[in-house]
Amino acid sequence: MRVSLTKAIELLKQGEVVAIPTETVYGLAADARNAQAIARIYATKERPANNPLIVHIADADQVVVWASEFSPLAQKLAQAFWPGPFTLVLPALAEVSSAVRAGEPTVALRVPAHPLTRQLLRESGLGLAAPSANKYTQLSPTTAAHVESGLGGDIPVLDGGACQVGIESTIVSVLGDRWQLLRPGMISEASVALAAGSPASQATLAETPKAPGQHLLHYSPRTRCLLFDSRQAVYDYAAKADDAVALLLGEKDLTGMRNITLPADPALAAEQLYAALHTLDAWQAAVILIESPPDTADWAAVKDRLQRAAYQAPA
Ligand code: TXA
Ligand code: MG
Repeated sequence: MRVSLTKAIELLKQGEVVAIPTETVYGLAADARNAQAIARIYATKERPANNPLIVHIADADQVVVWASEFSPLAQKLAQAFWPGPFTLVLPALAEVSSAVRAGEPTVALRVPAHPLTRQLLRESGLGLAAPSANKYTQLSPTTAAHVESGLGGDIPVLDGGACQVGIESTIVSVLGDRWQLLRPGMISEASVALAAGSPASQATLAETPKAPGQHLLHYSPRTRCLLFDSRQAVYDYAAKADDAVALLLGEKDLTGMRNITLPADPALAAEQLYAALHTLDAWQAAVILIESPPDTADWAAVKDRLQRAAYQAPA
């Protein structure tokens, strides 16, 4: 159900969930101070309660309302990347509900760039907890229609058009003058290092903050996906397979197999990635064959999502 900005604010203030547009993917938002509203997010997504949520805020001034430490390094990164597809994990103030933090001592914060959602944050005055607006482990939505097909037509959706970044934000945790990459995104590790003035710290496993949502099976179409190192390997497999479709990169396919070809530019490929996977999934083939992007830094985030889509749990 599409709702206006005014209606979205009204629903959120009443403790309801509303799907909201961001530049990365659509989020399933609720008032981050309202435990019942947060419970509705987990219930709607069928998400385990040990997986914390990102709190979306109107601007960097709001950080101190949620975090107990906003170190000079964290401020530098906020300045460089907000508003934008970038999330900071910082030590949390004690009053931040443990439903949002899922028991972690930290809180994840992001200032999104989408104009409609910025207006929503400013006018409502709320901090909005919002995970991607899909069922747990399924594909993230990049249009209002994806949200409705994944969560059902009763979910109120603030329609802000198709998402322009297309994959989830880069997540970085900061403690004092040290930082770590928790989830790759279109803001690359190299850009973070440049803005930080230092490389990611080599933490031991024990001190590495968890991003509990980062288990391997994630962002998955219902159709089985297989990842191949080369175009030729896709074709070799397809020649033996009965009902295969393909997600290809760059050069158009000349064999006539059913496929979607993403642009050779990583930013454009990211923008179109989830829509392509949603479409391929809807074709209900036996298998989706995926041509892997190159192992270069500019493809890291897209490759991460493709590896997760194709992950097979060990038998
Ligand atoms: O682009 C995005 O980040 C989108 C849009 C809606 O903002 N949101 C998103 O949320 O991708 P979600 O819930 O699908 O993924 C958030 C990730 C999860 O892997 C979660 O475990 C991690 O962030 N996370 C959240 N709070 C954390 C914390 N305090 N410490 C470590 N990881 C955290
Ligand atoms: Mg998600």
